Amino acid sequence: MNAYAGRKAVITGGTHGMGLAIAKSLIAGGAEVLVTGRNEKNIEEAKAALGVDAHVVRSDAADLVAIDALAKTVEERLGRFDHLFVNAGTAVLEPLQHVTEETYDRQFGINTKGAFFVVQRLVPLINEGGSIVFTSSIADHGGTPAMSVYSGSKAALISFSQVFAAELLPRNIRVNAIGPGFIDTPSMGVPGLSDEEKAGFMALGDEITPMKRHGQVEEAARAALYLAFDATFTTGARLPVDGGLGQGLSYPQQ
Ligand SMILES: NC(=O)c1ccc[n+]([C@@H]2O[C@H](COP(=O)([O-])OP(=O)(O)OC[C@H]3O[C@@H](n4cnc5c(N)ncnc54)[C@H](OP(=O)(O)O)[C@@H]3O)[C@@H](O)[C@H]2O)c1
Repeated sequence: MNAYAGRKAVITGGTHGMGLAIAKSLIAGGAEVLVTGRNEKNIEEAKAALGVDAHVVRSDAADLVAIDALAKTVEERLGRFDHLFVNAGTAVLEPLQHVTEETYDRQFGINTKGAFFVVQRLVPLINEGGSIVFTSSIADHGGTPAMSVYSGSKAALISFSQVFAAELLPRNIRVNAIGPGFIDTPSMGVPGLSDEEKAGFMALGDEITPMKRHGQVEEAARAALYLAFDATFTTGARLPVDGGLGQGLSYPQQ
């Protein structure tokens, strides 16, 4: 019940979806949690969902000034902390010819540049023996059409996680990543989809995923929490949470 008592955690992009599920599990286990988000309505809903003891902070994951301010806020509210979940992310589905500088910069700004600098600015506050978990994606490798920019942004994230894992060995801070496949979240990882587009995206996921279903946010959260807390001899690793989709499995023919 109190598996996380005495631990402190920061989750970027924790106001809904997988980040919120991680925050809920941590709070249920007795941890002190600070989550970030950007949209005011989602921030208010997260406050209601997480309760009065959670710290819910508005901070744009792509903005260096905001990341510096976040570091100050974390220090004021938590002091030093133990676990950082770098989860905020976005995707735009568009083939090569439709990519614009704006959509390129938006995806790399949040998924890659923001992820890099939030670690750089917060890592001095992480206690020895702590951990960092990135939320990458099944698309961080392979060739998924219409996801070139998103895939590149997440592939860079995996590179960061491995180099950070090496650089943080002397401080005994482990760094790992989860690689989600199709997970049922408000955005399915692609904000702005219409209800119809989201249903189609989910149906595609259910069809092509070897386990023939999409994942739940709690399943992604459990994988992230395993890496953060239980995987004490694992660093620089990427754990797929994708129903077998990235493992080249085929569904048995009847
Ligand atoms: N769902 C999937 O199937 C899937 C698959 C693979 C990977 N992923 C990755 O998993 C992570 C979580 O995805 P999700 O599906 O749980 O997403 P989600 O439900 O859309 O939640 C994303 C979270 O990130 C926050 N966020 C987005 N842009 C932000 C910004 N610029 N600054 C601060 N916060 C920001 C959102 O807050 P606001 O609403 O306030 O912006 C929200 O709290 C992402 O990195 C995504 O790329 C998702």
